[in-house]
Amino acid sequence: MVDAAGINAAVVQSIGHHIPPGRQTNDELALVIDTNDEWIRTRTGVRTRSRAAADEPTSVLAARAGAAALLGAAGTEIDTVVVATTTPDMKCPATAPLVADDLGLTGVTAFDVNSACTGFLAGMSVASGLIAAGSSRGVLLIGAEKYSSSVYELDRGTAPIFGDGAAAVVIRPGEAGEDGAIGRVHLVSDGALRYLAHVKAGGSHHPFSADMDPHDPYLRMDGRALYRHAVAKMAETCQDTLRARGVGVDEVDMLVAHQANARILKEVAGKLGVDPDKALVDLADIGNTAAASIPIALSRAHHRGGLRPGDTVLLTAFGAGAAWGSTLLRWPAMASTATSTAARELSQTGANPFEHRSTP
Ligand code: UT7
Repeated sequence: MVDAAGINAAVVQSIGHHIPPGRQTNDELALVIDTNDEWIRTRTGVRTRSRAAADEPTSVLAARAGAAALLGAAGTEIDTVVVATTTPDMKCPATAPLVADDLGLTGVTAFDVNSACTGFLAGMSVASGLIAAGSSRGVLLIGAEKYSSSVYELDRGTAPIFGDGAAAVVIRPGEAGEDGAIGRVHLVSDGALRYLAHVKAGGSHHPFSADMDPHDPYLRMDGRALYRHAVAKMAETCQDTLRARGVGVDEVDMLVAHQANARILKEVAGKLGVDPDKALVDLADIGNTAAASIPIALSRAHHRGGLRPGDTVLLTAFGAGAAWGSTLLRWPAMASTATSTAARELSQTGANPFEHRSTP
């Protein structure tokens, strides 16, 4: 449990997700804004986007995902809940205490991490630091977003892209060398790029006012510039991580990048020299779920049998801030915890992209 330097390693023990069943199709969106199914499919890879119900705020999505992850975490006492989100239930308080309360976790530390689409990686770094310092014996880390609440419905630059959902991991103390151990998380930011993706109104710089533009309380995005930076920075940080960990690009079994746009994911793989088939693309039915996108992609791949114990998984994200990062994870063996959502999805869609990867 304690390594040579006397420091606990943090290990991913279990994973689960919750995707609300509601979907908005491209054709439905085209009734509201000047767009069409063909453009959205070919430019982003999105066919439908997930939509949570009006009475299902981010904390509820998070709690459902958290409950799914806790099913596989026998023996771990959760004393910390971290929620990575940019769509909190309220500006204040944080969402994590609400989630802890919903889950019946009393007396725990609970706080949010806001690093936009890089939030889950930032959360991994925080969680592993808390465990390494002996401050926590078990962290429930959740990426959760209700982006339908943060997108201006008439904005053709964001409305086609974003969706709602959550996924969670339980992180426990363990050995540095074991599968699931969280090593160095490479995190970078550049605040000079703050306007690439931002919500203008509601903060201390631009409080809500009677004369604000109706778009101001919602997300604005310079899509083309973000695209360029996202490809360059995700490839760069992945190269840094591979170099620092002494892992060759050919040793990567799966590249799980923040699910912003299917084209971005293939371009990052191409730039890195990773076989494009190893770049997980998992956004067609739900869209871009920001801080939730990496754990959702991992959880769905896990529950569909696409991730096997010992697989080397390269994680990377880029988003508002700008903030970006990467890490490597050797996928751990986990108790089978097919969530109700995962089971329902599999029975609904029928097609399982990982069917050829038979579990050992
Ligand atoms: O998760 C946070 C990080 N976010 C990202 O990384 C997002 C990165 N950016 C993107 O995914 C893409 O830039 C978008 C999907 C947002 C936009 O795709 P694009 O290929 O960069 O489009 P564009 O803005 O360069 O526009 C190309 C064309 C333009 O028409 P013209 O000038 O070529 O005639 C746009 O007017 O596509 C048009 N267009 C649309 N057409 C139909 C732009 N938005 C739409 C739309 N429907 N929704």
